[in-house]
Amino acid sequence: MAGLFIGLMSGTSLDALDGVILDVGALRVVAHAQAPLPASLRATFDALNRPGADELHRAAMAARDLAELGAGLVAALLRDADVPASRICAIGSHGQTVRHRPELGYTLQIDAPALLAERCGMTVVADFRSRDVAAGGQGAPLVPAFHRACFGRAGHALAVLNLGGIANLSLQGGHGDVMGFDCGPANTLLDAWAQRHLGQPFDADGAWASGGTVDTALLRTLLRDPYFAAPPPKSTGRDHFNIDWLDRARTAHPEVTPRDVQATLAELSARAIAADLQHHQPEGRELLVCGGGIRNRDFMARLGRLLPAWRLIDTTARGIPPQQVEAAAFAWLAHRALAGLPGNLPQATGATGPRVLGAIWPAGEAGALASQAWVAATPPRGAGRRD
Ligand SMILES: Nc1ncnc2c1ncn2[C@@H]1O[C@H](COP(=O)(O)OP(=O)(O)O)[C@@H](O)[C@H]1O
Ligand SMILES: [Mg+2]
Repeated sequence: MAGLFIGLMSGTSLDALDGVILDVGALRVVAHAQAPLPASLRATFDALNRPGADELHRAAMAARDLAELGAGLVAALLRDADVPASRICAIGSHGQTVRHRPELGYTLQIDAPALLAERCGMTVVADFRSRDVAAGGQGAPLVPAFHRACFGRAGHALAVLNLGGIANLSLQGGHGDVMGFDCGPANTLLDAWAQRHLGQPFDADGAWASGGTVDTALLRTLLRDPYFAAPPPKSTGRDHFNIDWLDRARTAHPEVTPRDVQATLAELSARAIAADLQHHQPEGRELLVCGGGIRNRDFMARLGRLLPAWRLIDTTARGIPPQQVEAAAFAWLAHRALAGLPGNLPQATGATGPRVLGAIWPAGEAGALASQAWVAATPPRGAGRRD
């Protein structure tokens, strides 16, 4: 059943929809494409992280728009890679997280998998997180299993840091035990503050932050958020770490200049990550880094200073460029779902056990072959006995 799968990922940064074609057998990305989120869709998703009027309608419209964007991206991927649609086994679609409340028993990704299946004529696997939450887990992070499959080496420790809107770590000791959790904010606060004060989507290369000075009093206030000291399993999102959270903390430090706030936010994220790493993987020495935050030079320099014994390695050196890793993970998770294999790591999410993740929207007429192959590959249990 291994073959070509598409992964579509739009993370908490709300920057773009990333798509890849992954050769699941070789764990190799065949093509990558990106569609920036139109400003209106970005604003809608951002607003849906907070209570507001007519949310159901706005969420449904945003889901439709995201699926249309995804369908365009799928077409671009096929064109770029010169791959016919019939060779794609399925699409793994993450959707856009707008509320993440596992402690209340839910996590919500806005998505329209039926529309995506219809537009692309392909089987779509979506809603990956809710089964893990139903099994008592955080529903996040889900990338550690893929990180292990892709970057792990038997008998070696592994540490992978994803710098998306939220920072998450996947850690594996030399004996094979794996854990993973969200450390806290990475880009989400940096972006929000840069948008407010620079009028730009992000602080390019961290140039603005690098000229600022860390305000230790503000940093102490920010680090007091109980999330940082809480033990894993834990996960978080934009509905917790957002500009309102920052503004509340700033009321006690009104004198800090915008540029110094940016430097302090970068230091906050770097400190949280470094502390988590030193606490949970004190013997490690190599940190693979992926996610868009790797392009923030100021941030990477701060991290390097806090982790002098560690070598920070771009995942490109291990076969997958930083911006492609998460989308590749959801292509891989789609394969896991169709093969009936678990996608979560209970040690990472806190679920009561391994679970097959995602719901499946079979392809229509145009993709019938792919879905038939899937049914044939997974006969119902006990079918033989009934013959
Ligand atoms: N040149 C750059 N300088 C600083 N930050 C960057 C740069 N390029 C990308 N980023 C950051 O990476 C983010 C996108 O990273 P991504 O991995 O897609 O996050 P997510 O998974 O949350 O969408 C942007 O919002 C921005 O904060
Ligand atoms: Mg992104």
